[in-house]
Amino acid sequence: MRRSTRSLLVATAAAALVLPLCGVTAANADTPSFSNADKSALRNQAPVDLAIGTAAWGEQMLTDYDPAAPTEFQDVLSRQFSSVTPENDMKWDAVHPAPDVYDFASADAVVAFAKANHQKVRGHTLLWHSQNPAWVTEASGTWTCDQAKDVLEDHIRTVVGHFKGEIYEWDVANEIFKDTWDAGGVSLRTDRNPFLKACADDPVGLLADAFTWAHEADPDAVLFLNDYNAEGINEKTDAYYDLAQQLLDRGAPLGGFGAQAHLSLLYGFDASLQANLERFAALGLKVAITEADVRIPLLDGETEPTAEQVATQTERYQALLQACLNVTACSSFTVWGFSDAHSWVPDVFPGEGWATISDEDYTPKPAFDALLTSLKDATPGVSPRRG
Ligand code: G3I
Repeated sequence: MRRSTRSLLVATAAAALVLPLCGVTAANADTPSFSNADKSALRNQAPVDLAIGTAAWGEQMLTDYDPAAPTEFQDVLSRQFSSVTPENDMKWDAVHPAPDVYDFASADAVVAFAKANHQKVRGHTLLWHSQNPAWVTEASGTWTCDQAKDVLEDHIRTVVGHFKGEIYEWDVANEIFKDTWDAGGVSLRTDRNPFLKACADDPVGLLADAFTWAHEADPDAVLFLNDYNAEGINEKTDAYYDLAQQLLDRGAPLGGFGAQAHLSLLYGFDASLQANLERFAALGLKVAITEADVRIPLLDGETEPTAEQVATQTERYQALLQACLNVTACSSFTVWGFSDAHSWVPDVFPGEGWATISDEDYTPKPAFDALLTSLKDATPGVSPRRG
């Protein structure tokens, strides 16, 4: 089943020989035109109202981008995806390293790459308990709620304002609820999120303000809540469903709900995913799969999964995409990296890996083929999608 990377690239190059290669022609090497002729590309099989995305790093992979001579990573990234999420480049520690210092260099590299390749950008993330710089973590224990709001408002207006018009969806609030297995059970992270902590007396008020500031800074961006273990209907997504209604009742410009979909074969697949997406859509929200990967517990010393594990991984990816295709409010489907060469999983989950849709050498896995097939089949009359 394994096709060489070359075969994928040659196949697309052969298809593109009839048309400008990946859009790069001598006449316009600086700003490649875009050809959607390559039908072995996910982006070119997707319905027009569904962005197909991946996470990518500006700091590491996109800073030195030459459209006339892309790296293999950059070539696959531009060919396959219509959306890019900066994996770390727009987080607090990257863009706001000191109270009066903003640094957009690596994030700008992601946006520049996306622009050059006719891709959209998902902003990630404006309010989270992780990857905050030391000055935030250390100061947050002393802030009053008003002081915390001043800091957060400056950050949101500056960051969203910097990228105004260039971000189609923002993960405004990320992972703000604890899980059933956390101390205190499902509740807002007023323990770990520095801003929710300072405003523990009215966290919903803080969240409503955060969405309002983001909307005022960029009225065209759709503003999301985003979390893991938020795929099916469960205690956590019930809490999000209630919060979404509270925010909407307050007139907060909440626009979407994102399920990250970081899955593992150690656990089952929650088949209530589509119903969960549908209930948030029924509130008038967009929904999205924002960070899909399916990690596999590898047997001791093994680097390759069994055929059965590969088949199950393929089924899981396909089920995630199909649920999104079946809910017309699902505006984007994003994988959290497209190659095992650049996956967060092995660093965080020892003994698990093989989580993405292609190998370290960008060889497509059966999961990639399954996604491509699902997108091809999402034609009018088969799914409620516009062609
Ligand atoms: O940038 C420093 C580098 O200077 C230093 O030498 C190196 C030493 O370890 O660390 C680098 O920082 C790493 C950072 O990614 C890169 O910016 C951190 O160690 C590492 O922990 C961090 O991991 C990221 C993780 O979020 C942090 O929680 C992963 O790449 C990223 O994929 C992951 O993404 C999150 C989403 O944002 C939210 N949903 C869950 C998802 C997975 O955790």
